[in-house]
Amino acid sequence: MTEKQPKSSHRLDSISENNGLSLISDQDKNIYSVGISTGGLAEIRMARALSNRHIVATTIDPEGGSFAQSQIDQALLSDRIEVKIEDIAHTLPYADESFDFVYARLVLHYLSKRDLQNALQELHRVLKPTGRIFIAVRSTACLEAKAGYYNSENGITTYTSKIGGTYSRYFHDQDSICDFLENTGFHITHVKTYDEQLCIDFQRTKPSDDTDNLIEVYASKPANRS
Ligand SMILES: C[S@@+](CC[C@H](N)C(=O)[O-])C[C@H]1O[C@@H](n2cnc3c(N)ncnc32)[C@H](O)[C@@H]1O
Repeated sequence: MTEKQPKSSHRLDSISENNGLSLISDQDKNIYSVGISTGGLAEIRMARALSNRHIVATTIDPEGGSFAQSQIDQALLSDRIEVKIEDIAHTLPYADESFDFVYARLVLHYLSKRDLQNALQELHRVLKPTGRIFIAVRSTACLEAKAGYYNSENGITTYTSKIGGTYSRYFHDQDSICDFLENTGFHITHVKTYDEQLCIDFQRTKPSDDTDNLIEVYASKPANRS
């Protein structure tokens, strides 16, 4: 069984995606999903789980956004899942306290220290009181974190991938990502670290040669500060 490229219908299951989606409750009607999932599949699961749920899902990648939009159209969910080209490093075009839940799997590690601080402030602002946030980021235990060039000014490590190309990521440890969240005013509910097999392709059908190490954080916006 050395097949490396299963058929596109064989989409690899994800621990972090399943964990994140399991934290969304029936009270969570408005969800902000930062960095839409491949083909919008996580967002389609969110929408199918509750018929009156509305999801705003963003990306900075127009090609990924169009692919996700076509899958969402096919699933007849375009009235409930809004795909937007939007950079989380910039001010968000939403009123304060607009969303019940923020889902941010494998996206915030794209951001430098300063951009991450800005993004978390914005996410805190647009969350309703008692709103919650789910984050999954790659950890410093990933092979690329050790092999790359680390810039201590912005926290970013630049590395060359085995499959070609140069990438830049902020590899976190539990303290770094929790400090960012707590300094923004979030309360940490749980933090977990585990290995997960990520994919190298858009459709999540081609497993990467190396297993990644992820940090998952679930946090809330405290209701009242008297
Ligand atoms: C590895 S994918 C993860 C997507 C998804 N959250 C999931 O769980 O499958 C990263 C996504 O984040 C998007 N992204 C990267 N930087 C971003 C930014 N600054 N603002 C918004 N989205 C961003 C990418 O375009 C891509 O859609």
